[in-house]
Amino acid sequence: MINVAVTGAVGRMGSGIIKKVVEQENMNLVAAIEVPNTPLENKDIGEVIGIGKTGVKITGAENLEEVIGSSKANVLVDFTIANAAFETIKKTAKFGVNLVVGTTGFSDEQIKDIHKIIKESKVKAVISSNMSIGVNVFFKILKDITPLLLDYDIEIIETHHNKKKDSPSGTAMTAFEIISEKLNRNTDDIGVFGRKGVVGERTKNEIGLHAVRGGDIIGTHNVIFAGEGEHIEIKHVAHNRDVFVLGVIKALNFIENGVPGKINSMNDVLGI
Ligand SMILES: NC(=O)c1ccc[n+]([C@@H]2O[C@H](COP(=O)([O-])OP(=O)(O)OC[C@H]3O[C@@H](n4cnc5c(N)ncnc54)[C@H](O)[C@@H]3O)[C@@H](O)[C@H]2O)c1
Repeated sequence: MINVAVTGAVGRMGSGIIKKVVEQENMNLVAAIEVPNTPLENKDIGEVIGIGKTGVKITGAENLEEVIGSSKANVLVDFTIANAAFETIKKTAKFGVNLVVGTTGFSDEQIKDIHKIIKESKVKAVISSNMSIGVNVFFKILKDITPLLLDYDIEIIETHHNKKKDSPSGTAMTAFEIISEKLNRNTDDIGVFGRKGVVGERTKNEIGLHAVRGGDIIGTHNVIFAGEGEHIEIKHVAHNRDVFVLGVIKALNFIENGVPGKINSMNDVLGI
């Protein structure tokens, strides 16, 4: 049995993950954690998210260590916000509890520290800005295609719902990093985040990143490779959040086989 704790338990992702976890024969939901001092404290998570009683009470994050210590969690799943997730990772790793983290928007500093925390605590972790199978195949296509189109202008456009807090999306940033690496260029030198005013002609080196926000769009990522007389677009469209939730379930089933002390990717989970 895999004992699963979830932070961001009533959020869009957290609640979807809990609904799927309780359906799995090999998983137990053991903790549901929300913002510190949540007014939902002690309410049954299942009743709050509309699936009936689960026997698991919502806890505020101020009691995170106590809950992790007493719940016998093997793994904690975090889909919250970067600063909260960073604190959760620090505290959870201390207890030797494995981690599946989908939260996006970490600073470079936080990412460096997370690598260090995972390494020192030797926990098994899967951290990915996008847990969908299709997006991870999309990343693989970008890896393969970029070296074939070195002279082409590359632009990344992502579109998300109007509640999304960070931009560009973690997925767009991962696409940017993959492409930059394949071009042998440093991300600090070539990213142009939106354009406004008389910015001059596009340079050969730059990669434009554009974030569109609106309505309830789950997430679209489009990479354009534009040359003379033609362009190629590689596009991924998520139709619903289930694609991410299914990836989380795969990551939960994989985690015991993950390399301790290393951040395993969805490529490791999916065998890409
Ligand atoms: N990796 C992926 O595949 C993937 C897919 C979708 C969303 N995301 C990311 O997941 C994160 C959450 O997205 P969402 O749409 O579910 O957001 P959301 O706002 O619906 O949910 C976030 C939840 O986290 C809770 N929270 C905030 N601080 C907390 C803390 N300290 N402890 C416990 N809970 C806390 C909030 O109360 C909220 O319920 C975002 O960073 C988003 O970009 C990743």
